[in-house]
Amino acid sequence: MTEKLHIIPHQHKIDRVFRERLNGHKSQTLWFTGLSGSGKSTLANLVEQALADKGIRTYLLDGDNIRTGLNKDLDFSSKGRIENIRRISEVAKLMNDAGLVVLTAFISPFAGDRLQAREILGYAFVEIHVDCPVEVCESRDVKGLYQKARKGLISNFTGIDSPFEIPENPELRVSTHLQNIEVCTNNIIDFIIPRIHTNE
Ligand code: ADX
Repeated sequence: MTEKLHIIPHQHKIDRVFRERLNGHKSQTLWFTGLSGSGKSTLANLVEQALADKGIRTYLLDGDNIRTGLNKDLDFSSKGRIENIRRISEVAKLMNDAGLVVLTAFISPFAGDRLQAREILGYAFVEIHVDCPVEVCESRDVKGLYQKARKGLISNFTGIDSPFEIPENPELRVSTHLQNIEVCTNNIIDFIIPRIHTNE
């Protein structure tokens, strides 16, 4: 974009701090990142249920769902994935401003995009690496997509012919091939509850 846009944002009276007080908890974004089949969606679902049971207001943004609506114009090229993650970061920011605890389940394979998400979301951002070797994800192949990728029916498939850059310093790492799903869920809940209820 070359032309300067003359935009001056409004400061609204009802802001995030007000909504957080109303809700009785802080807003956060739990950013699940990992290979297809690593367990991101399953875990995000279980964590959301556990938070909702505690009366916490949540919203789950999931790659397979968002890509049928808001992001249905995007493909799996590097450019498509970068724009996918940029939009999700901005949507999560709006939802945080609305006072929600957001959970995002996207492969988000590029470290630079996750860093951008961290910058957009600030303190609210919690990176959770859902760790699982590609061999295990491939053996699970819940959606049959690894098989299709191996046959050359899908290109740019993460872990096969498109890279996944492992998070170096995530707030949390859970290993779904080593720990059962309940243990992973509890580890995340134990980490997140104090952040949601902090007074800072
Ligand atoms: S991301 O890389 O842009 O973050 P996103 O999480 O939105 O990906 O979508 C990943 C989901 O799309 C996978 O769980 C899988 O079901 C499906 N999918 C279709 N094509 C691909 C592909 N080439 N690589 C990875 N996942 C794909």
